[in-house]
Amino acid sequence: MAQTRPVAIDELPYDPRDPRGLRSDAPLLDGWLTFTAEVAAGELTPMAVPGHKQRQDLTGAVVAGDAPLYGGLDSIKHADVPLAEAERRAAELWGADWCRFSVAGSTHGNQALALAVGGDGREIIVTRILHRSLLLGLVLAGLNPVWVRPDIDEKTGLPGAVPVDTVRTALREHPDACGVFLGDPSYVGTIGDLAGHAAAAHEAGVPLLVDQAWAAHLGFHPGLPPHALQAGADALVTSAHKALPSYTQGAIVLARTGRLQPGRLNRAFEATHTTSPAGSIAASIDASRALLARDGEELCGRLLRCVAMAKKQLVQVPGVGVLDGPGVEPTKLVVLLAGTGAHGYAVEADLVAAGMAVESADKDTVIPIVTIADGEEQVAAFLDVLVASIEGHRSHPRTPVSHASWTVVPKTVLSPREAFFADNETVPASAAIGRVSAELIAPYPPGVPVLAPGELITAAAIESLREVKADGGRIAYAADPSLDTFQVISGASPRTQ
Ligand SMILES: Cc1ncc(COP(=O)(O)O)c(C=O)c1O
Repeated sequence: MAQTRPVAIDELPYDPRDPRGLRSDAPLLDGWLTFTAEVAAGELTPMAVPGHKQRQDLTGAVVAGDAPLYGGLDSIKHADVPLAEAERRAAELWGADWCRFSVAGSTHGNQALALAVGGDGREIIVTRILHRSLLLGLVLAGLNPVWVRPDIDEKTGLPGAVPVDTVRTALREHPDACGVFLGDPSYVGTIGDLAGHAAAAHEAGVPLLVDQAWAAHLGFHPGLPPHALQAGADALVTSAHKALPSYTQGAIVLARTGRLQPGRLNRAFEATHTTSPAGSIAASIDASRALLARDGEELCGRLLRCVAMAKKQLVQVPGVGVLDGPGVEPTKLVVLLAGTGAHGYAVEADLVAAGMAVESADKDTVIPIVTIADGEEQVAAFLDVLVASIEGHRSHPRTPVSHASWTVVPKTVLSPREAFFADNETVPASAAIGRVSAELIAPYPPGVPVLAPGELITAAAIESLREVKADGGRIAYAADPSLDTFQVISGASPRTQ
């Protein structure tokens, strides 16, 4: 299928010397560059998917650069070879025994690890500020969560880390648990003692799995914390499209085998991965890996400098705070607004109008994502607009309110899987209190469920969701986002955990 005839330089629609010379170290990037060059040269008459057949005169340039892994980056029968080589190189870079590239985000990675670690009614120690994707991973695997909670910083209302002692206690009280699954760094960049968690898990004879969706750059500069495997974890999931310059949806799942079995990891990974992975996404993960291998320290150094400069400048603005210190991933920029009286949504609207949309904003915080793709100039330009906006909306300082996602203390009545499949009905909010939730409801961002299948619906949970909504937040995944009605398990008589 994909031919390897050398293509003349002037036939190519992009720099044929490839993005900064990464091609020779990145087999999937090489496959993508070859395929797209052949497309550009009009050499292919594909009689296989994708159905657009590389024509841009049907739906336009939206399909430009789309190349399937199988039958694009290499032939359908041979593409597994460069894929395995690219994944091997990533495993080596991260110090893993096993690695897979996902084209379905850390969402898929979390679910693959859940399916790999246990199932069928086994217990697992999980942080309650988990991303909704992991909760659905518990449903798929049939795992029963034993929730552990992070400390909440009273001053900011934001979550810190889950204390190691909390995990130790949970492991002691649930000796049959099959693993510990934590999110670290948290959505707001707070980091915990992963080495301590790994030791606690290993003493109990179970693996530590870590959702590091936001932090694919960890471990690539002495000024950064080690990544989860370096800290002793058995597996990590990370979104290459978040912290690294990969296509949207690109993610990497890495594991040390021993406590986790490679065969089971592969089966779990394939269970919910598409059979038609986008080669463009896979190639961009490969390219990001090659970039990190070559320039990781330099790029992360610049990132660290940019964020340090931003924090320094921001704390000089009266009332503005930033999350900082040893418990915070140093490249995370969380801007605290309560002391200025400005509302985060108003600031966000100004930033969107300026073409500078941020990852997240709620009343008290604005979270821009700064990555290795940013330079001093972009960050300085962003700060100018941010500070001007804060000044424009300055009002009376207030005490920050902790977001519903961080404070929820659920009462689990049914396992997430039992609840997911149970008969359910729709009832008015007033009648939902005291019933068992059939649905997952999460303000997004951060995508942390306030209500999950199998949890008792409390007046406090409904109230906190309503507060987010009244404030202009997005209530995701609810059957009725107005929150007038809720989906509850039919006739379930609550039995508490
Ligand atoms: C902590 C965490 N884990 C996993 C995910 C899912 O990542 P993805 O969007 O790559 O599927 C997210 C998404 O925001 C997240 O915040």
